[in-house]
Amino acid sequence: MTLGIVILAAGQGTRMKSQLPKVLHPLAAKPLLQHVIDTALTLNPRKIIVVYGHGGEQVKATLADSPISWVAQAQQLGTGHAVSQAMPQVQGLDQILVLYGDVPLIRAETLRAFIEASESGLGILTTELDDPSGYGRIVRDINGDVLSIVEHKDADEDTLAICEINSGILCLNGEKLPGWLARIENDNRQGEYYLTDVVGLAVSDGIKVLGMDVTDPNEVMGVNDRQQLAELERHFQQKQAESLLQAGVSLSDPYRFDLRGQLTHGQDVSIDIGAILEGEVALGDNVKIGPYCQIRNCRIGPGCEILAHSVLENANIGPNCRIGPFARLRPGAELTGDNHIGNFVEIKQSHISQGSKINHLSYIGDSQIGSQVNIGAGTITCNYDGANKHRTEIGDRAFIGSNTALVAPVRVGEGATIGAGSVITKPTPDNELTLSRARQTSIPGWQRPQKSKR
Ligand code: UD1
Ligand code: CA
Repeated sequence: MTLGIVILAAGQGTRMKSQLPKVLHPLAAKPLLQHVIDTALTLNPRKIIVVYGHGGEQVKATLADSPISWVAQAQQLGTGHAVSQAMPQVQGLDQILVLYGDVPLIRAETLRAFIEASESGLGILTTELDDPSGYGRIVRDINGDVLSIVEHKDADEDTLAICEINSGILCLNGEKLPGWLARIENDNRQGEYYLTDVVGLAVSDGIKVLGMDVTDPNEVMGVNDRQQLAELERHFQQKQAESLLQAGVSLSDPYRFDLRGQLTHGQDVSIDIGAILEGEVALGDNVKIGPYCQIRNCRIGPGCEILAHSVLENANIGPNCRIGPFARLRPGAELTGDNHIGNFVEIKQSHISQGSKINHLSYIGDSQIGSQVNIGAGTITCNYDGANKHRTEIGDRAFIGSNTALVAPVRVGEGATIGAGSVITKPTPDNELTLSRARQTSIPGWQRPQKSKR
């Protein structure tokens, strides 16, 4: 069976009260529509068509890398009209699956089972809701066979009492669909061409319609406002947290954990509350993440401990490092291993070799730092002259006294010692003490001024 997928995404989304088109609002840092497209791609369809309307150019630009076709629906005349716009692009395909761009959490497994069960002609993915108001109701006969879908606004009292609703996700016979669409009319309360009317038409053609119930309603929940978006975000995060717990990761509180991307991990990783992990994060065995850390696109080696409130981005961290609290590793920070990076230390585009320590209040940028180096509190690499960036090199076993300014380009020799408070502008020799500061003097007999009497 060949499959075409039509994703409806032309709606305005006024209730978001936003400049951003609704389907571009992020869930776990990924646009709603991208979630749907990514799931659709795993079903190996021949074609994916997105029907767009409001903010179309922005939507297309944001999702330019996805292998999909676009169809404009200038006026939103209803879901039936929207699918009609896509028909020329899916001609000859056996099955057409309709998804919504604002229903992001539908799972591929659910869809696979649904598509297979719908092979006979027409399937509707349904769910039971305690409060079904607003949704189309599934009307069944006494044998339980689906007869039609009736929209809330068109329903009588008996129909409104039905709790089984149309999720909006339908799977339709590709050969019959054009004929059904041609017969849909807009003589209803909303004056719209309802895609759901194909159900009644299929039944009158003698086709048995499948109504498949999805057990977790969150899978088919749509986003209409920011409240619903926040609820789905929490649901998504909770699911991720559960699967990490199952996989052996300790989370101090699964309700205070956010993963906005992909996490790979070794054994006995533990993550305290308030962690935000973004992009691609890899944590080795026994990594401990302290409270309120933000970690984006980092590799963190086994045995590392990241202490509270550290912010790490595009950093590559070798084994057994201790980082934070309040450390900041910026892109290009490379730590070989056994490094200590302490509070209020910022590292950017620098390689720090085995065992070196930068424990307090430093800025290290564009630097190559050898092994077993000790960098004293308040040391700054002055890497920027206002126009260009320059490099600092520090040899193995060097000891940099506190509050040193290293004016790049500059090199500190192996085993060199730099006296505290120095401003280093020239290369310093190996194994020697270098310092640059005014000699300390004391003035004998000096008296503090006294307050003059009036
Ligand atoms: C639709 C279903 C209803 C179902 C509900 C589930 C119909 C007639 N009704 O109702 O049975 O219970 O979804 O949420 O299908 N869209 C377009 N172009 C249009 C109209 C809609 O692209 O002309 C898109 C919207 O962007 C949205 C989706 O289709 O993603 C559903 O549209 P919406 O107006 O929300 O439909 P409902 O009235 O909620
Ligand atoms: Ca809706």
